[in-house]
Amino acid sequence: MATGRKIIVVDDAAALAIAAADRVLARIGSDPGRIAICLTGGSSPTQLYEVLGKPPYQSRIPWDRVHWFIGDDRFVAVSDPLNNMNIARQIFLDRCAPAANIHPIDTQAHSPDEAAALYQRLLLEFYGADRLDPARPLFDLVLLGVGPDGHVASLFPGYPAIEVTDRWVVGVPEAHVAPFVPRVSLTLPALASCREMLFLTAGSGKRPILTRVLGGEDLPANRAHSRDGETVWLCDRAALPENFRA
Ligand code: 6PG
Repeated sequence: MATGRKIIVVDDAAALAIAAADRVLARIGSDPGRIAICLTGGSSPTQLYEVLGKPPYQSRIPWDRVHWFIGDDRFVAVSDPLNNMNIARQIFLDRCAPAANIHPIDTQAHSPDEAAALYQRLLLEFYGADRLDPARPLFDLVLLGVGPDGHVASLFPGYPAIEVTDRWVVGVPEAHVAPFVPRVSLTLPALASCREMLFLTAGSGKRPILTRVLGGEDLPANRAHSRDGETVWLCDRAALPENFRA
């Protein structure tokens, strides 16, 4: 659970987007080769996406060598406003990244399970092996938000998907919170295979769940951490529980 978590506090959501963008750039700069970034859904990353897609960040990203994945998606049409990768594409990816470097979950598949199997295959091919080697993480950076029930990606508390260790991607037939559409999600071991896991939490709406997370409850958000790298929680002041504010 939550091993070696580092908490970084910033003033507000705008500062959080800048701090996150700086970490994205630092992560890209730490390796001259191919970079794999796993994006997240929901509203938490949208300001970050806006920052990445415009100067000065846009021109500092070597787009040709950065590959963009998604940690979970809603099983809706690719063009649906609820589709997580669609949101990232609209805000910055389609304008900035080569199409071949954008790797969405195929939500046109017959079922969430089939979409999960297809995405797992895509990840295996990208990684070049079917076993995750701790010395060579799948992702350089994994971004995550946290839901009101403590879920991350589409790994909801008490659902079987949270316990899956023999697959990298799973279908999730029912969501625990809105939007109530089936999901496809990376599993904890796949998300954990990263040099850095970066949580984005801003606004007073996140304070109740952050209070529970930092209180050490057994929640998906506390089970998610980078296996051998850094786990960083970027929080703005409004999201921080009272007892952490001092
Ligand atoms: C999703 C997400 C999910 C999200 C959290 C936080 O598809 O819904 O990936 O895990 O990150 O629910 O959502 P918000 O950022 O909207 O608060």
